[in-house]
Amino acid sequence: MSKPDPEAVRATFESVASRYDLANHFLSGGIDYYWRKKLVEMAVEGSCDQVLDLATGSGDVLFALREGFSPDAAITGVDFCEPMLQEARNKREAKELDENSNRFLLGDCLSLDFPDESFDLVTISFGLRNLSDRDKGLKEMYRVLKPNGRLIVLEFSQPYFWFRPFYYFYLKLILPWMARLVTGDREAYLYLGSSISAFPDRVGLVDEFEGAGFERVHFSALTFSIVALHLGYKKNNS
Ligand SMILES: C[S@@+](CC[C@H](N)C(=O)[O-])C[C@H]1O[C@@H](n2cnc3c(N)ncnc32)[C@H](O)[C@@H]1O
Repeated sequence: MSKPDPEAVRATFESVASRYDLANHFLSGGIDYYWRKKLVEMAVEGSCDQVLDLATGSGDVLFALREGFSPDAAITGVDFCEPMLQEARNKREAKELDENSNRFLLGDCLSLDFPDESFDLVTISFGLRNLSDRDKGLKEMYRVLKPNGRLIVLEFSQPYFWFRPFYYFYLKLILPWMARLVTGDREAYLYLGSSISAFPDRVGLVDEFEGAGFERVHFSALTFSIVALHLGYKKNNS
């Protein structure tokens, strides 16, 4: 698969924005709640004043992080698809959350509009796979982290070998049709299957973290390694 085209990615999420959450919960059988819970467990192991959730989409990761951190922590969500952000802002209003400490900003992960060393923690869930230049994206995340700050990536991975035939059968043949029922958009979910199969495995992503400068990188595989959580630290200057 060639590199994701940012315009096509944005158009895809624009077209599914209003049904994105429903499709997510339905097609994953609700397991996405568990994956986010594991991300938050990892995130709250360190204290944070400033948190950045990239490719925040409809905001579910930001809201899950909000429950894990103290009300003083500021959490900023960034996405380049305005309709997805609008879904997130609507949910923030329904949850009666403060808009200054739960910001949703339009922006591009490949060129972040924040000074160096702004955040204690950067998270990105199911977004890294969609970047047209992963190395550039990881380096941007490194740049905006404070020394010793952490990056957590929640992303699809390569499942354990014995599970792959079942998984790819579901992903490439069943899921696009089920997705069509929920979202009316089969193409978007054909893209999902090919982008997952083109994504590096757990060790490959560790190498990419290290290539961008991160140290103490490790991962934890979830659900037969359909998904993995990767954690890396920015070097401490001192
Ligand atoms: C699969 S959704 C994930 C949303 C959310 N993080 C979640 O876990 O439900 C991927 C999101 O990445 C966003 N995205 C993709 N490339 C991006 C980029 N270069 N900059 C900002 N957002 C991007 C899309 O607009 C979309 O909202």
